[in-house]
Amino acid sequence: MDRGLHQQPRKTRLTGRSGALRALTLSLCLSTLAMPVFSQAILEGERFHPASASHGMVATSHTLATEVALKVLENGGNAVDAAVTAGFALAVTQPRSGNIGGGGFMLISKGDGSEPEAIDYREKAPTGATETMYQDESGEVVKNRSRFTHLAAGVPGTVAGLAMALDRHGTLPLKQALAPAIKLAKDGFIVPQRFSEGLEQARERLQRWPATQATFYKEDGSAWQAGERFRQPELAATLQRIADEGVKGFYQGETAQLIVEEMERHGGLITQQDLEGYQPVVRAPVHGSYRGYDIFSMSPPSSGGTHIVQILNILEGYPISELGHNSADTIHYMAEAMKLAYADRSEYLGDTDYVDVPLKGLTSKLYAEELRQDIKPDKARPAGEIGPGQPPGYESPETTHFSVVDKWGNAVSNTYTINFSYGSGITVQGAGFLLNNEMDDFSAKPGVPNAYGLIGGEANKVEPGKRMLSSMSPTIVRKDDRNFLVTGSPGGSRIITTTLQVIMNVIDHDMNIQTAVSAPRIHHQWLPDEIRIEQGISPDTIRLLENRGHKVVTNSAMGAIQSIMIGEDGTLYGGADPRRSTSSAMGY
Ligand code: GLY
Repeated sequence: MDRGLHQQPRKTRLTGRSGALRALTLSLCLSTLAMPVFSQAILEGERFHPASASHGMVATSHTLATEVALKVLENGGNAVDAAVTAGFALAVTQPRSGNIGGGGFMLISKGDGSEPEAIDYREKAPTGATETMYQDESGEVVKNRSRFTHLAAGVPGTVAGLAMALDRHGTLPLKQALAPAIKLAKDGFIVPQRFSEGLEQARERLQRWPATQATFYKEDGSAWQAGERFRQPELAATLQRIADEGVKGFYQGETAQLIVEEMERHGGLITQQDLEGYQPVVRAPVHGSYRGYDIFSMSPPSSGGTHIVQILNILEGYPISELGHNSADTIHYMAEAMKLAYADRSEYLGDTDYVDVPLKGLTSKLYAEELRQDIKPDKARPAGEIGPGQPPGYESPETTHFSVVDKWGNAVSNTYTINFSYGSGITVQGAGFLLNNEMDDFSAKPGVPNAYGLIGGEANKVEPGKRMLSSMSPTIVRKDDRNFLVTGSPGGSRIITTTLQVIMNVIDHDMNIQTAVSAPRIHHQWLPDEIRIEQGISPDTIRLLENRGHKVVTNSAMGAIQSIMIGEDGTLYGGADPRRSTSSAMGY
């Protein structure tokens, strides 16, 4: 990656709309005030202030990962060096979603304005996978087989993906990018409250597996408590093997052997050949535009970029800025557009290495215009009346996101996951890391919803070697070929709508990045037919939406979006999501 390209001076863009800010709830304010002081994003009066810096910015969901990545930037590394370092560090400090046993997507957009690139390191179905592997003899889906058994795990892609990113665009040797993670695993780190709470909540599911119990709980079975030091010697040794031998240190040799033995003991499918054969893929991101900004986001096997662009295309036809942030009108149009997009998702989206996806049609302005004709301004369309549309022709939950920008204007947006919190809950015995349960993102049977209530079709059926459909949406917005906004989120099916709203909050509602990240969010995914809202949408607005026929339900917090905005003068603004108490945005 070019280290020498400095950004041209730009004007800063910091002002938030006080009207929009007033809509933020007291509870949200309080949760932000309670954020650890090491997050530099603070609340002052009624305005959320982003962290700001002039040379580099990192936003992750764990401060220890933010710190080690920032150190890389300070020492002259570029955004990819810092992102890969953060990715490995999160595998240690945030085992519920940071991982080496899962997969994800990294979007890289250089400061020189060249075409952005996506690295797809999504997990793959093992060779032995079959279309009906989650069904019984009568064709009924067996509950939890795709979630909490060894059959739930796809072939992990994270180690190969991070190594590929470093190889293509980094300047650090892999060993050096792994060093902070190895130190954190070996020496341990002080457990934050959220870590302890997570282990308490998942106790029943995790303690079914002796290796998970031994790795993540004390000998007496109790969870590590906030303030205590937690060490992971087996994970340190696994990471050291990668440092010593490169990707072979994971996909071959001792670690691969431990994974295969784990599978063989419990009827899992991942073989030595599956591991050795795993390859990440370089893909072109989905590219769309919204009110003069270029939107680059993840292409299939993620549905994220496709539907973010599709929803933005539909919403471009409405004066969203005038209608106001989280007003009944704006939420109505957003919900109607979201329904249409998620209905299309259920039919058309899958791994493009296996199925044709009408990507151009789904992301075209013309198709959006057509869909817009069916949206009524004053009435919700029941989900039952909506089905997948006819886009023009085919052409050939727990998750975590981090964003990095370096002093050369290079940007990295990375989302990776083991699917649920703690993935399958199964730790590879002797290797100290959790396996994903990403196979649940396939359709266990077309038409049967997955854990996020998402319906999948034929396009997303299980096939050997195929990548399961994702919603992960690492996104980079550019203005006049310059990186402007780097964003993305965890949240299962809500990743798409969460990311969408941060883009709209910045472009339509002129919010600074911390306000855009903190503001209450809404979500509709076609089925179930309801608008989910976070606390902070006014009762008046809810009544107006109900009068139009929407069912509105208050849901828990959505996503944990870690974002960076680049001002016109090159100043970097970081927004850490207060929904995840360990989040931080830090710059230098
Ligand atoms: N596992 C959630 C997703 O990839 O969308």
